[in-house]
This record gives sequence, C-alpha cells and structure tokens, in this order.
Amino acid sequence: MCGRNLQMFSLWALGFVLLIFGITTVCEPAGSNNNCHRKDCNGTWYDIKEATCCENRLHPGASLSCCGNEPYSPGTATCCKQQHRHTVTARVTQGLSEKVSSCCELKAYNPVNEICCQSAIIAKPSPMAECCGKDVFDRVKQLCCGSPDIKMILMRNSSHHQCCGHSQYDTETQCCCSNEKRLEVYPKISSCCLRDSTSAHLCGNETYDKNTQLCCQSTVIDKHSPNHRCCDKRAYDGEKELCCGPISDKKILTRNSPGHMCCHQGQFNSKTECCCWKDDGAEIQPRNSSCCMQQEYVAIEGLPKVLFCLCL
Ligand SMILES: *[C@@H]1O[C@H](CO)[C@@H](O)[C@H](O)[C@H]1NC(C)=O
Ligand SMILES: *[C@@H]1O[C@H](CO)[C@@H](O)[C@H](O)[C@H]1NC(C)=O
Repeated sequence: MCGRNLQMFSLWALGFVLLIFGITTVCEPAGSNNNCHRKDCNGTWYDIKEATCCENRLHPGASLSCCGNEPYSPGTATCCKQQHRHTVTARVTQGLSEKVSSCCELKAYNPVNEICCQSAIIAKPSPMAECCGKDVFDRVKQLCCGSPDIKMILMRNSSHHQCCGHSQYDTETQCCCSNEKRLEVYPKISSCCLRDSTSAHLCGNETYDKNTQLCCQSTVIDKHSPNHRCCDKRAYDGEKELCCGPISDKKILTRNSPGHMCCHQGQFNSKTECCCWKDDGAEIQPRNSSCCMQQEYVAIEGLPKVLFCLCL
C-alpha cells in the first residue's frame, strides 16, 4: 500500500516535471513575450524578472532568494535559520556568500578564519583551532581537559600527553587511574596503574588494558584519547567526531559542531535540519520542509518515522 502510494506519487511528480519542461520549452523562444515570467504573489501578478515574492510580500529585484520574509542574494549574503519549537526564525548576514559561510545560530561566519563556540563567533588563532567550552584551543599545541561543564586549556607538554581529569599525563610513562572515582596521574609502575592493567579484561580471546586500549567487535585497538570509542572495528573521538552509518558499514566524520548528528553515513545540523528517511535512504532537509515537519509530528505520536515519510 505504501509502495503503491509512492509509485503514484513518483508518476505524478514526473508528470509535473514534464509539464514544467513542456511549458518552458514552449515559452523560452518567445521569452520577450513575457507571459511565462509572471507569477502570483498573494493576489498580485508580478514579473519574476523584476521582483521577488517572500512570504506573500513583493520586493524589487529579480531572482533573489527568501530568508523568511526578507529577500537576499546568496552570492553576497547568508541566510541563517533557527527553530524554536514550531517557529523558525531567519536572519540575513550581508557580505558573506552562502557558498563559504557557516551559521552560528542566526549569525553567519567564515569557517576559514572564525569558529562558533557555544553560540559565539571567535577569530581562529590557528587552522587547528577547536572549541574548548566557550574558548578556542589549538589541538596540536594544547589540550582541552576537564569535565564537559568545566573545561580548561593546558599547554600540551608533548604529542603523547593526554588529559586526565583537569590535568595532563605522559602516556608513555604514566597512567590516568581512577582512584575512588577521581582521575589521577600515577607512574606506570604504581599499584593503581598495575591494578587497572592487570585486572585482565577479555576482548575476543585476547586480554587488553582498559586505560590505553579499546575492545571493538572483539578487536583490540589502541586508545589515543580518553574520548575514544568504538566505531565498528575502529576507534573514533566521541567529542570531535561522529560514527555514522549502519552496523559494519560505519564512517568516521569530523563533527562540524556539537549540534551535528548522524544521518545515515552523513551528518546534519540538528538545529536547522533534520534527517529525513525516504525509501531509497536518508536525506538531509531543512527543518521547515514537509518531511521534517512530518517526522516531528510522528516523533510525538511515537509511530515509526520511516512509514510516514514514505507514504506522504
Ligand atoms: C495577503 O493578502 C491578504 C488578503 O488580501 C491580506 O490580508 C494580507 O495582509 C496579505 N499579506 C501580505 C503579507 O501582504
Ligand atoms: C609538563 O611540563 C612541565 C614543565 O616542563 C612539568 O613541570 C610537568 O611535570 C609536565 N607534566 C607532565 C604531566 O608531564
């Protein structure tokens, strides 16, 4: 039943496309005779070569895009959208092409030399800059240590230094040992390090060290940071990366922002987009698209998302 609806929809959509093509091909040669450039904007007919209609209001200027009710040109400006429950707010930032920009909530920025950390746009001190709470740090020269709510930037002593709670430790000579729930740095030969490494954890038929290794699908993998988790048979950084895709066909992606989530093997900005499941896979769509709206509705009803998107 679902499949048939979809087929009928496809045929209908195809017919629609053919119809549009039919009109354009008939119309184009007589372009100067402008009947086909006229459109309705809330009851007013206008020439699309002269004006743009955004949310039922006419604005001078041809082939502009709409950002909510504001017209803009994506070549020289960016539209950022944000959803709060059921209302979408949109704002235009002038002077930055949509091709090169990213959005930091409602403000656009240039990701080449700026970064968005907890809703604030900050100049990037180096190309390797990343967010550490509200600040930026250089992941090569520095470490961002601590708990998610209290982060601290430390000068990294060497490339084999890693975070242990709020401080750093040398992974070659020390271990980060949990002592009565607190993380502390100890020499590798200390009883705390030895206790952790000798309490034999089994991975498949091998033993592994929980401090420095991971067990991913019965495979032992070296852990390069405390944030490392399994992604199929590989390790990924649970803070900076995403592990996306179906089991045994997962991909590791650099996470574009803390609000990014997986959509099949890709990622989407959960603040402005949704992952829309269609019968031939998943597709990222803007939050105000009909498919996203359906999914939100369905999520409330607690019914399978996949079914609804397929049928409608
Ligand atoms: C669209 O037309 C309706 C009816 O004429 C009017 O009430 C409404 O204000 C118009 N909307 C805009 C945005 O001009
Ligand atoms: C890092 O370097 C400082 C200065 O050389 C040193 O005092 C400190 O012990 C080092 N920390 C670690 C964990 O190696």
